[in-house]
Amino acid sequence: MDARPSRVAVLGAGTVGAAVIRSLQRHPQLQVAAALVRNLRAPRDLGDRPPRLTADPDEALEGADVVVELLGGTELSTELMRRAAEGGARLVSANKAALAERWEVWGPWVAAGRVGFEASVMAGTPVVSALAGPLRGSRPLALHALLNGTCGFLIERMEAGEDFASALAEAQRRGYAEADPALDVDGLDAGHKLTVLARLCALPELGWERVRREVRGIRTLTPERLAALARRGRRARLVASLWSDGASWRFAVRPAALPEHHPLICVGPGRNALVFRGDLVGEVLIAGPGAGGEATASAVVADVLEAVAGRPGPAPLERELPPPPPSAALEIEELPES
Ligand code: HSE
Repeated sequence: MDARPSRVAVLGAGTVGAAVIRSLQRHPQLQVAAALVRNLRAPRDLGDRPPRLTADPDEALEGADVVVELLGGTELSTELMRRAAEGGARLVSANKAALAERWEVWGPWVAAGRVGFEASVMAGTPVVSALAGPLRGSRPLALHALLNGTCGFLIERMEAGEDFASALAEAQRRGYAEADPALDVDGLDAGHKLTVLARLCALPELGWERVRREVRGIRTLTPERLAALARRGRRARLVASLWSDGASWRFAVRPAALPEHHPLICVGPGRNALVFRGDLVGEVLIAGPGAGGEATASAVVADVLEAVAGRPGPAPLERELPPPPPSAALEIEELPES
């Protein structure tokens, strides 16, 4: 047995990265060797055994067995992971934007079992491994999900009467929102995550642009609109869906009204949730935290442990599945722009 701890490099040490670094320190078989940061002087809580901080990507990647990418964005993140892959490291990423938009680069690494990306969708709530694992035994009929923690938080706060701007400031303070919160509010983050999930269960080569066209965000929701929905016993949520019209697979991310008894509402406030409907298994509901430093760190750490144990990451779907017959819409009422 190799007694040397596995060396982990962490790219990015913001809210999520710092939580990942602290959590990795709980595992003696791991050594967080270096962390890539933009600002070497920014205050951070990096635990009892803080890694060496560097602003130099090559220094951060040097000698790493596993590289954890938490930079966000699509270009620098993909370029640094390319260098890490060429250096022979295993890759772990929470970066749904890069996975969705740069699939031509990431797809072959995923196919080779070199990438852990559980944290990219629903943070520490296991949905990637569920779709790439046990749920593969069923043909998917539809999938409906709340995939953006920030939008869920904003809507819940506005339902309680708070205005959009102050609710968003609080979501940023809690570390839920993207560095550019427009990605959350305009539905793009949920679209990225839907793309990742749709590839795992139905369309392995799905292009981001096909999903991108069907994305609408929550900017038209106001406390007044939400109150009017509540009087009808409805709750608004940003819902990401994959379904079939019988002739082709369809996608959407859009604000929708759901009845109080809907499974995506019953999971309670502050949750991400996903209903998967499969031909054999029926309806499966997965729910839990979908954003935040420690909730995301949970899945990242699990992927690092899998990598150092030599187990492959989730496998892509081998071939595209034909669209099934249309199935019931699950009481999701798309909300118009105004
Ligand atoms: N900004 C994302 C969200 C973070 O709010 O869900 C987790 O992916």
